[in-house]
Amino acid sequence: MNRNFTMTLRLILIAAAALLAGCERPPIEAVQHGFRGTGMAEIYNPRTLDAQVPLNQVPAAIPPAAPGGPAAASIYQNVQVLNDLSLGEFTRLMVSMTAWVAPEQGCTYCHNPQNFALDEKYTKVVARKMLQMTRKINADYKTHVAQTGVTCYTCHRGNNIPANVWFKAEPEKRSVGLLGDRAGQNTVSKVANLSSLPEDPFTPFLLGSQEIRVHGTTALPTGNKHNIKQAEWTYSLMTHMSTALGVNCTYCHNSRSFAAWETSPPQRATAWYGIRMVRDLNNQYMEPITKVFPAHRLGPTGDVAKANCQTCHQGVFKPLYGVSMLKDHPELAVQGPSLAASAVEAPAAQAPANPVAVAAR
Ligand code: HEC
Ligand code: HEC
Ligand code: HEC
Ligand code: HEC
Repeated sequence: MNRNFTMTLRLILIAAAALLAGCERPPIEAVQHGFRGTGMAEIYNPRTLDAQVPLNQVPAAIPPAAPGGPAAASIYQNVQVLNDLSLGEFTRLMVSMTAWVAPEQGCTYCHNPQNFALDEKYTKVVARKMLQMTRKINADYKTHVAQTGVTCYTCHRGNNIPANVWFKAEPEKRSVGLLGDRAGQNTVSKVANLSSLPEDPFTPFLLGSQEIRVHGTTALPTGNKHNIKQAEWTYSLMTHMSTALGVNCTYCHNSRSFAAWETSPPQRATAWYGIRMVRDLNNQYMEPITKVFPAHRLGPTGDVAKANCQTCHQGVFKPLYGVSMLKDHPELAVQGPSLAASAVEAPAAQAPANPVAVAAR
């Protein structure tokens, strides 16, 4: 063989290897998800799935407390949220919470062992808010979490701070005189699966309530606010949602029309409610306790760690494969009187979308 040819071949092979380094090696598995012929298949890498299994197992529950007995609130001095629990249930929940959030530190992560009633540790103050938040999710967001529900473990998995949280991106530092604004993109975005899409789609969509739309509904530019930038932000969020759940776009969309709700799988409606839920958690439960946290827990712009889809899902279509821990902890599904007031808003009328109608079909 000609020497030059061999060299060229070698170069091509090296280039191909470099290009494919980011790809996943076969075999992969394809599972049909939509109607036949629509190409709606889920592509799974069996090695990724195998690695996920041990990380998403549910820990054994402590046996239930004996029914009856005095109310915890009648014995303890500073019970503000769990005042509907018996002493036995209260103690069982404290032990479970310790295993879910602070297994290494134990009770003293939140308590001064000399006096459990004191609120001197910020972690206890945060935990109280988290108890209210968990009850809120289970009582008022059944549209998303169904009867499966969540416990502290769904997010924390034995960590003080859940493994997947987000902060607002730092404002760009641009050299004076240089033209051009990256507009929060054109760099490797971890959130958007290492693409160059916007780095922080969470601030507008999961904290703010910006419209998540690409398709214009009018032909003329007047009144049509949909532009390429907006499409890029939307795609960044969508990429996060796909990676957070370990699914392809077609888990929620029929690629014939990404906008049409009529042809979307029901999972899209569940996701629609999930977006509203996460917004609510970040605005009503995370942001308000920013001042409680020490500086080292805050982000580069001084904001508190917040939740996104990954916080609960951790790469799986349903957190912990849809195994319910809530059934062993009915006390976390209670809707206290303080919660009843803030019911979930009805789906916005703005979009052609009516996820409720779609879900009911
Ligand atoms: C992750 C934080 C956290 C951990 C860990 C924790 N607790 Fe608590 N504990 C709380 C919160 C929050 C309250 C207040 C609940 C309320 O206001 O309804 C509380 C209240 C109490 C009270 C009531 C004190 C009083 O007089 O008001 C006791 C007793 C208690 N916990 C015991 C324990 C024990 C025992 C452990 C370890 C097995 C433990 N806790 C672990 C957060 C925690
Ligand atoms: C939806 C996910 C989610 C659930 C459910 C959840 N947490 Fe959290 N938790 C977070 C996030 C995110 C943070 C990071 C700080 C923040 O924004 O409040 C956090 C922070 C904390 C902290 C502060 C730890 C530190 O070292 O700074 C404590 C304590 C805590 N959670 C306890 C609990 C308890 C107890 C429960 C169950 C009653 C619970 N959490 C349920 C998401 C969650
Ligand atoms: C877990 C479900 C889910 C996944 C996965 C998902 N999407 Fe979406 N997508 C939605 C929901 C829900 C909306 C509507 C959001 C809203 O209205 O708040 C949406 C909206 C969109 C829109 C806007 C349509 C319009 O009306 O203009 C586009 C485009 C889109 N998605 C593309 C994608 C792409 C591309 C992917 C894969 C990278 C993807 N989606 C993955 C649920 C999903
Ligand atoms: C507080 C925890 C939590 C957060 C945060 C969360 N989810 Fe979920 N999600 C759940 C639970 C629990 C279920 C399982 C409900 C069930 O069993 O039907 C679920 C189910 C789903 C499903 C249905 C899957 C299926 O196969 O039917 C979709 C789609 C989904 N979530 C999308 C999202 C998206 C998108 C986000 C972020 C915007 C998100 N979730 C954030 C807890 C969460």
